[in-house]
Amino acid sequence: MVTNRELLAVREQSTPRGVGTQTTVFAAKARNAEIWDVEGKRYIDLAAGIAVINTGHNHPAIIAAVKAQLDRFSHTCFQVTPYDVYVELAARLNALAPGRTPKKTIFLTTGAEAVENAVKIARRHTGRSGIIAFSGAFHGRTMMGLALTGKVVPYKAGFGPFPAEVFHVPFPIDYHGVTAADSLAALETLFKSDVEPSRIAALIIEPVQGEGGFYPAPVPFLRELREFCDRHGIVMIVDEIQTGFARTGKLFAIEHAGVEPDLMPVAKSLAGGFPLSGVIGKAEIMDSVPPGGLGGTYGGSPLGCAAGLAVLDVIENESLCDKAAAIGEQIRSWATALQGKHPCIGDVRITGAMCAIELVKNGDADSPDAELTKEIAAKSLENGVLLLTCGVRGNVIRFLPPLTIEPEMLGDALEVVGDVIAGLSNRMQKAS
Ligand SMILES: Cc1ncc(COP(=O)(O)O)c(C=O)c1O
Repeated sequence: MVTNRELLAVREQSTPRGVGTQTTVFAAKARNAEIWDVEGKRYIDLAAGIAVINTGHNHPAIIAAVKAQLDRFSHTCFQVTPYDVYVELAARLNALAPGRTPKKTIFLTTGAEAVENAVKIARRHTGRSGIIAFSGAFHGRTMMGLALTGKVVPYKAGFGPFPAEVFHVPFPIDYHGVTAADSLAALETLFKSDVEPSRIAALIIEPVQGEGGFYPAPVPFLRELREFCDRHGIVMIVDEIQTGFARTGKLFAIEHAGVEPDLMPVAKSLAGGFPLSGVIGKAEIMDSVPPGGLGGTYGGSPLGCAAGLAVLDVIENESLCDKAAAIGEQIRSWATALQGKHPCIGDVRITGAMCAIELVKNGDADSPDAELTKEIAAKSLENGVLLLTCGVRGNVIRFLPPLTIEPEMLGDALEVVGDVIAGLSNRMQKAS
């Protein structure tokens, strides 16, 4: 039997360290909310491949759809010989996207590529160049993705220069003393000190910041941004790459605010683990690019599109939006009870099944505890629970279970994490 240690040695010899990995266990098999490593150890998966497996690992309906597509063909290139599953998935997403304006959808491969395309479309539509993004945002690792990303280390450091004309304003986070009014004021200041509104093509926002720390944008703020964009002729891009496909209790997180985006990059859980991304947008804006201006050899892979159609069926047939809300409530009651006992849990944030706890020293929001955060993730892994960290200051544990997880299994995982936090927190109290 090959061991984790042996594979790690090969990994270190053969792959660059720039691709950081959060664990040193190698996956052998995964089903629904469980992963087994090459040594046969079982983990409950609260990471879902970074919000990709909302429908669970190897959902039988998704696997069957992909196998059926594999028997037909795996690639023709949509730009050469188009195929049914691409246009069918586009039509379904157009009908499901928030708002009544007619929509069109292009498919690509990665989230970053979807963001790139949204920016291209917005620029072509407006004839303008500037883009406004938010500090703490994450929009991918391509050059434009990085330009839009609002966190320097480790993403941007040493990789510049990035595409020009990208401006960052603070994202509203009450817990850190930045109100929605502060963020709106920063937009007005930007127009006074840096750039005129008529140079701005688009504003891009995650309805819940993902890598930045699972901070939800307040609903009134999102509505004000919609008005702000309308006032200035700016395309509103809502990045639903991490928040989409039932994760927050709605198919798209922006639905909580009742806002209709102009363009919506999607990826991750769109195809339940098969590489597929897209931009869903208002038809008139999407059609501002002439033929040949958009596309890519692999964009809209037939396997990904077949999976995407099955994903939409599973979300509907298994009521995954309702399940996300129930998961959020289960995590909320566990986390708030734990917070009452352990002041290291400074904040609990729940948007459907996009859940996080923020770890601080002495209950102080301004004293992030990144060390403790790392230890919680490492010890939980030792005890069979796979968790991810995130946050601009590295002090957030995020909970992203598959939405198909059984409540009992989630309860077991939370008990493990709760014991780990209690153990580490008692150790800290004794030491002080
Ligand atoms: C909100 C958001 N946008 C864009 C991306 C980039 O997606 P990808 O890694 O598929 O390029 C991510 C990935 O985590 C994301 O969370």
